[in-house]
Amino acid sequence: MVLIKKRPSWEMPEREATPEHVFLNRRKLIKQAGLIAAAAPLLGLPGCEDGGSQSQAAPIMAPDPTASLYPAPRNDSYVLDREITDEALASTYNNFYEFGSHKSISKAAQKLVIRPWEVKIDGLVEQKQTLSFDELIKKMPVEERLYRHRCVEAWSMAVPWSGFALKSLVDFARPLSSAKYIRMETFNDKRMAPGQKAVWYPWPYVEGLTMAEATNDLAFMVTGVYGKPLPKQFGAPLRLAVPWKYGFKSIKSIVRISFTKKRPKSFWQETGPREYGFWANVNPEVPHARWSQASEEILGGGGRRVATQLFNGYANEVAHLYKGLENEPLYM
Ligand code: MTE
Repeated sequence: MVLIKKRPSWEMPEREATPEHVFLNRRKLIKQAGLIAAAAPLLGLPGCEDGGSQSQAAPIMAPDPTASLYPAPRNDSYVLDREITDEALASTYNNFYEFGSHKSISKAAQKLVIRPWEVKIDGLVEQKQTLSFDELIKKMPVEERLYRHRCVEAWSMAVPWSGFALKSLVDFARPLSSAKYIRMETFNDKRMAPGQKAVWYPWPYVEGLTMAEATNDLAFMVTGVYGKPLPKQFGAPLRLAVPWKYGFKSIKSIVRISFTKKRPKSFWQETGPREYGFWANVNPEVPHARWSQASEEILGGGGRRVATQLFNGYANEVAHLYKGLENEPLYM
């Protein structure tokens, strides 16, 4: 068991990881929030509701109904250039702003109620549908893949995810040919997730990919890790892993998947448009607005830094997706 006694050097205090204007406006926003909250019942403002029905359900202490799927057979096409990160470390060093804006949210995240868990598929599809996570996973080919994970904050880890190719879910959803993007949304329930009371963030967490990205072999829907069903702090029961992009694209605890014509605006893009973009492809040569992306600190590596690679080392698999898009801000 690895214990982090002091804050590792790569961990940033929230004031550094959060765009400055968010901090500067915080006081003003808190004041406004008080007024909005007071007025909400009169105005019926969207986003001021208590949240969905998922928090109503009592947590189920029974064994995870998908436990028999793990460990899933490993797909050997995905190899690592480094050791798998220690499970105890990866499980206690997480970003999940719904439960706090620091890394030690693993305990707080146990409040997340993951059964029942419904996933809505809508937008430009042949037929809209809502199905339970347990129904959905039964239809998907579950396997294990070893992926690198590179956070925009310049730390990285290597994780044995289990799940299924996002492409399998896209095929199942039957999008119309007019669909250009896939938009994913996290639950929104501030009674369950106290971080969602922070009014300066645009809840719920939203992320998006182009259809070409979503149907690339590397795009993976995660349902398990370290040979077990996904622990809550990792974004149970269903999260994304797109390892050629900065970690914030890998949205957790997904409840809605929509196919759209319009490019979705993501949580971080909305929060800090000068610092975070739609594409967020890893590139060591394009610094973040406030720090270099040239190297990364390997989580649990005793402070070891390694050079960051273009597309996090997955250029062979994904570089072709960006031909002709050179004028887009592909690396923020
Ligand atoms: N998804 C949601 N819903 N909320 C979040 O705060 N954080 C993102 C991403 N997905 C986040 C999220 C960021 S910044 C990173 S680096 C990864 O989740 C962290 O995943 P991990 O905790 O499994 O390492």
